[in-house]
Amino acid sequence: MIYAQIMAGGIGKRMGNVPLPKQFLMLGSKPIIVHTVEKFILNTEFELILISTPEAWMDYTWDILKKYDINDKRIQVIPGGKERNDTLQNAINYIKEIKGIRDDDSIVAHDAVRPFVTKRIIDDNIEALKFYKAVDTVIPAFDTIVRGDGEEVSEIPIRDEMYQGQTPQSFNIKAFQNSFKTLTEEEKAVLSDSAKIVLLNGERVAMVTGELSNIKVTTPYDLRIANAILSMGHAVGE
Ligand code: CTP
Repeated sequence: MIYAQIMAGGIGKRMGNVPLPKQFLMLGSKPIIVHTVEKFILNTEFELILISTPEAWMDYTWDILKKYDINDKRIQVIPGGKERNDTLQNAINYIKEIKGIRDDDSIVAHDAVRPFVTKRIIDDNIEALKFYKAVDTVIPAFDTIVRGDGEEVSEIPIRDEMYQGQTPQSFNIKAFQNSFKTLTEEEKAVLSDSAKIVLLNGERVAMVTGELSNIKVTTPYDLRIANAILSMGHAVGE
């Protein structure tokens, strides 16, 4: 079975002084998270669509789903975790409890704050899961990527071999769990990228091409860009 997870367990510190975690801020006529959920319910292959939010915001999440007429029976709001990977692990624990986990069960995990994900990107993740135990959505790096410590450059990798990571990131659930349980608490806190965890554990990770518009709303500047993308006519499912 394939499960979807919309990761909304963060509080959006880099968004600055706003009244709500950024996933609940308005983008056009509806909250960011509502745009994201609408993309996922288009796909009929998902057994469940788990929305992970901070525990204190779970009721609020149900309320806005109702307010914006999202009543897909597959949706469940569950508590997120301390770090992003704990949020993923909590969803896996939920699936384990409710459905049990079989060898070929997978999860497509997406940042709630990437509201312009497309059905095509989601479908490509699901397709790649037929051949790989982990999938990363990426776009080619347009800028040269420079490695350094802030004072001195140590490496300038060949740009053609560099990509920028987006989400969804998708995993065979058992493969992710095997990788996650090898980590110490310190490693869990540093390794914020879930695909990196399975890569470090020796799994091959497929690349799916994302979209330039599949931006992550991190700062107030990004929210302005997101509004601009919306006004360019980026429709649901496009
Ligand atoms: N996220 C999550 N669980 C966490 C932390 C983050 O589900 N413990 C989610 C966020 O809600 C967001 C996505 O992961 O949708 C991408 O993370 P990021 O942009 O870093 O979100 P925040 O942690 O909320 O932002 P900040 O780092 O500025 O506090």
